[in-house]
Amino acid sequence: MKIRSPIVSVLGHVDHGKTTLLDYIRGSTIADKEAGGITQHIGATEIPNDTIEEICGNFISRLTIKDLIPGLFFIDTPGHAAFTSLRKRGGALADLAILIVDINDGFKPQTYEALNILKMYKTPFIVVANKIDRIFGWETHEGASFSESFNQQAQSVKQELDLKLYELVGTLHKEGFQSERFDRVSNFASQISIIPISARSGEGIIEVLAMLLGLAQEYLTEQLEINEDAPAKGTILEIKEEVGLGLTVDSIIYDGVLRTNDEIALINSSNEVVTTKIRSILRPLPLEEMRDSKKKFRKLDEVVAAAGIKIAAPNLDDVVSGSPLRVLSEEEDVEEQLLKEIEDI
Ligand code: GTP
Ligand code: NA
Ligand code: MG
Repeated sequence: MKIRSPIVSVLGHVDHGKTTLLDYIRGSTIADKEAGGITQHIGATEIPNDTIEEICGNFISRLTIKDLIPGLFFIDTPGHAAFTSLRKRGGALADLAILIVDINDGFKPQTYEALNILKMYKTPFIVVANKIDRIFGWETHEGASFSESFNQQAQSVKQELDLKLYELVGTLHKEGFQSERFDRVSNFASQISIIPISARSGEGIIEVLAMLLGLAQEYLTEQLEINEDAPAKGTILEIKEEVGLGLTVDSIIYDGVLRTNDEIALINSSNEVVTTKIRSILRPLPLEEMRDSKKKFRKLDEVVAAAGIKIAAPNLDDVVSGSPLRVLSEEEDVEEQLLKEIEDI
């Protein structure tokens, strides 16, 4: 038995800061380079434990899960209204989620939509109240914990932040959730934690990562146990033509092991099962966004969940994004399982 990284999906309204938050964690600038400043695909990035420890320091020293899991596996989703199906896919994959809200804007249509997706899948989540650096009078402390930075703010700024937070608490209450600023939560099982952050300055990101690890330790350890020898299960994010490789599929593997030459089953646009044989498995380096790192893939013979990988194989031309992926096995009727699974997508 092995414990895999929790899959953490970041959901929220357009421009509320999902990609910028992940940029801060991986030390990248992907949000700045997106066409129109809009995310249009699902992204995937593995954040190794070393990076989390570098950011969090002592904040996570008492969490034993950090020694069991390889890290956190983040899924970035688009917030634009047009991409409901991609948000659902992100929600379906998630073990845990971050619902991000611009603290100055409050809940917007796709915030509600994302919340409903989390309700539907019963995904445990935290709320991140972003862009606190834009609260009037806020003094930025780059990379500080929320608590450290908050303690150094003027009284009026503290009050302003709490006023805005209690609007979020009120909205969440109407939606059926008890919530509280994370440092005032008394019962993590019944109350949603709200963590104020600035994705731009990094304030509060320490607490976000520590809270995700804490929730994973408390509620997910069993769910994260994987059998390293079991045939892989995954989801296709996108079909892409790559120079030198032909058609490839970007996929998330969330269970089992996938090997070169494995026979896999996928779903095509007529909702039929298609099978193919894996020619190569390409994995981005840790901290690289899968949709952004063509040049930095490692070629591997096998990969164990959780992982975001590119697969090169024949017969991919009619595969649909969102398709489940299964390794064919003699023991199970994989085709039937696949057809059952797509009834939900
Ligand atoms: P979509 O993926 O298109 O839904 O947007 P997103 O949620 O990923 O938001 P994105 O990261 O693209 O950020 C939108 C804009 O808000 C960018 O100009 C960011 O620089 C800015 N932004 C994000 N977080 C912060 C923050 O904490 N403070 C400030 N001042 N600006 C921020
Ligand atoms: Na954006
Ligand atoms: Mg984005």
